[in-house]
Formats: sequence, C-alpha cells, structure tokens
Amino acid sequence: MATYIVLLGSPGAGKGTQADILIEQTGLEHISSGDLFREHIRKKTELGQLADSYMGKGELVPDDVTIAMVTERISSPDCDRGAILDGFPRTLVQAEAIRITLNEKGTDVTVVPYITAPEEILIARLSGRWTCRASGHVYNNLYSPPAQKGICDICGSELYQRNDDTVETAKKRLQVYTEKTLPLINYYRKQNKLVKIQGNQPIEKVTEDLLAALNIEA
Ligand code: AP5
Repeated sequence: MATYIVLLGSPGAGKGTQADILIEQTGLEHISSGDLFREHIRKKTELGQLADSYMGKGELVPDDVTIAMVTERISSPDCDRGAILDGFPRTLVQAEAIRITLNEKGTDVTVVPYITAPEEILIARLSGRWTCRASGHVYNNLYSPPAQKGICDICGSELYQRNDDTVETAKKRLQVYTEKTLPLINYYRKQNKLVKIQGNQPIEKVTEDLLAALNIEA
C-alpha cells in the first residue's frame, strides 16, 4: 500500500527540515514544490522565469503550472511506493488536483501532519535560514548554525540566503498562507487525515511526534 504524506504548515514551520529526516526513515521520495521551482530557476527554464516573478514577491505561482509540475513528478515510477509532499498542495484547487491524480492511481493522500508555530518564531526562522547551494542542507543562524559561517558542515559548499527570506517577503508569504492555504486544514480535517504537530519544539522532538503520528518506529 502506497503512502502519500502531505506536510502542511506555514512558511518556516519546519516542513523541509522534517521531510529530509522522514525520507531517511521511510525511504519515500521527497517532493518539494519550492525546490522544483528553484531547480527551474537555476536552469533558467521558461517555468523558472515565471515562478521567479511570483516567488520573489512572496506570492503563489499560478495553480495550473504548479499542478502540472507536481503531478508529472508524482506520476513517475519512483513515487509508486508513495511520497512526502512538502509545500504542495497550497490551495483547494491543488488539493483537489492531487486527490484526482492519486485516485487515478487507485490511491489517495494517506495522512496530513499539520506543523504549527507562532508567527514571531516563523519570521525569525525564515530570516535566519541559510541553505547549502550544492546539497540543499538547511541551517539557521539562531537555532542550528553551521560550524563555520557560510559553509555547509556536510559537503563544504557555500551557504546562501533565499531571496524570499527577507523579513518583508516572509511577512507577505505568511499573509498569503493565511488567505490561500489555511482552508486546507478544514478540507483535510473533514477527511480525518489531519494530525496537528507542535512545531515550536527542538527539531528532534518534532520528528519524534511526527513519527508517532505516522506510526513509524525511530
Ligand atoms: P517553499 O520553498 O515551499 O517555501 P515555504 O512553504 O514558504 O516553506 P519554507 O521552505 O520557507 O519553510 P519550511 O516549513 O520548509 O521550513 P524549513 O524546514 O526550511 O515555497 C517558496 C515559494 O515557492 C512560495 O512562496 C511560492 O511562491 C512558491 N511555491 C511553492 N510551492 C507552491 C505551491 N504549491 N503553489 C504555488 N506556489 C508555490 O525551516 C525554516 C528554518 O527554520 C530553517 O533555518 C531551519 O533550520 C529552522 N528550523 C526548522 N525547524 C526548526 C525547529 N523545530 N526549531 C528551530 N529551528 C527550526
């Protein structure tokens, strides 16, 4: 039976951090819509150019192109066992689209951990985040700094700050999240798939709670 986990939570809640840990524990594929867009931006594709114009302002990329990109990824054979969806769906239209795609495969979203944290913590996390250019490993000035400033502990590559991680754009992303993504909480609650996870705890404790919610032994 395939397992499709939707990690729901505001920008900075810790979805990407936890997804990286969960893929080690579950062997499932990690599908991050934000990472897929950033890959298109790096490769200077037409989709990358379009996505960049929305991401830089903290707005959502239009549903049609986002849905096409993610459904193509989830339809590839390496996702037949399941996947961890991080940052998708983010609108009701996207949620319906993924439901239909998975239903066509004879499956559905299995569980939706909803990671929460107070807004001031989210802003501090986003504005303090540094990401490895080569491997995508994530650090934080305040909470999990690298041993050497600007260098990834794991692969030694350069760390950079995302251009949407300024305080101003982070605030805009949180506002967009409230308007467009919060309705998904009720959508998945009605389907009995929502599990609330307290994200304002040390990373290891959030993982422990997630594994318990997913019935996976550490
Ligand atoms: P995306 O890349 O998905 O960004 P996001 O949802 O805003 O999420 P983040 O990556 O900012 O946060 P996260 O929850 O993953 O936190 P992380 O684990 O890194 O999207 C970017 C943009 O792409 C969007 O604004 C939009 O334009 C576009 N886009 C993407 N998907 C889309 C979609 N479906 N539809 C339309 N547009 C879309 O943690 C953050 C920081 O906190 C890190 O420094 C980390 O080290 C630290 N941290 C994490 N957990 C803890 C903890 N427990 N304690 C202390 N520090 C912690």
